Amino acid sequence: MEFSELVKIRQSDRKYSDKPVEKEKILQCLETTRLSPSANNSQPWKFIVIDEHNLKEMVASSASGLGMNRFTHQAPVIVAVVLEKMNGMARIGSAIKNKDYSLIDIGIAVNQFCLQAAELGLGTCIIGWFDEKKIKKLLGVERKKRVPLLITVGYSMAGRREKNRKPAEVISSWNQY
Ligand SMILES: Cc1cc2nc3c(=O)[nH]c(=O)nc-3n(C[C@H](O)[C@H](O)[C@H](O)COP(=O)(O)O)c2cc1C
Repeated sequence: MEFSELVKIRQSDRKYSDKPVEKEKILQCLETTRLSPSANNSQPWKFIVIDEHNLKEMVASSASGLGMNRFTHQAPVIVAVVLEKMNGMARIGSAIKNKDYSLIDIGIAVNQFCLQAAELGLGTCIIGWFDEKKIKKLLGVERKKRVPLLITVGYSMAGRREKNRKPAEVISSWNQY
């Protein structure tokens, strides 16, 4: 598939079938994610694949509430992204330049995961709204670490949507702001 087509078919899928996700496909997504760029090649991430049904249900419950993210219960797999410590140079760079490179790194890696999943015929949705404290407890993540994002993974039952995006002339300019 052409990259430009892959980018169009990747969408946030919020409806999944019961079909289990093959372990090889998850491993391929993790491999593509592993190759992501990061500031000073710091790779400040760990991905926890949650495919054990009862645990996944508890994680889904911690991600849903107030009408949000109920579809997480349908996804056979949820991946939790743990923010790990940046290496020394990336930390120094972050401090000097007053930029949290690690969250930028996580965003890039998560997008690589989702694009790879789309190429393999899987649907995903990035989830940023969840009870982080509960999820850390369920997954045995140290209290001081952060879990910025979850990703739902499964075979999508959602139809393909047109992208709703700002026009190119609004989000870009040439030579001046
Ligand atoms: C950092 C981040 C957090 C997000 N959190 C949620 C979420 O909690 N629940 C949800 O349904 N979608 C969530 N999304 C998905 C966005 O709503 C979605 O990417 C956006 O509307 C564009 O639609 P598309 O992904 O289908 O192209 C999140 C996306 C990102 C990048």
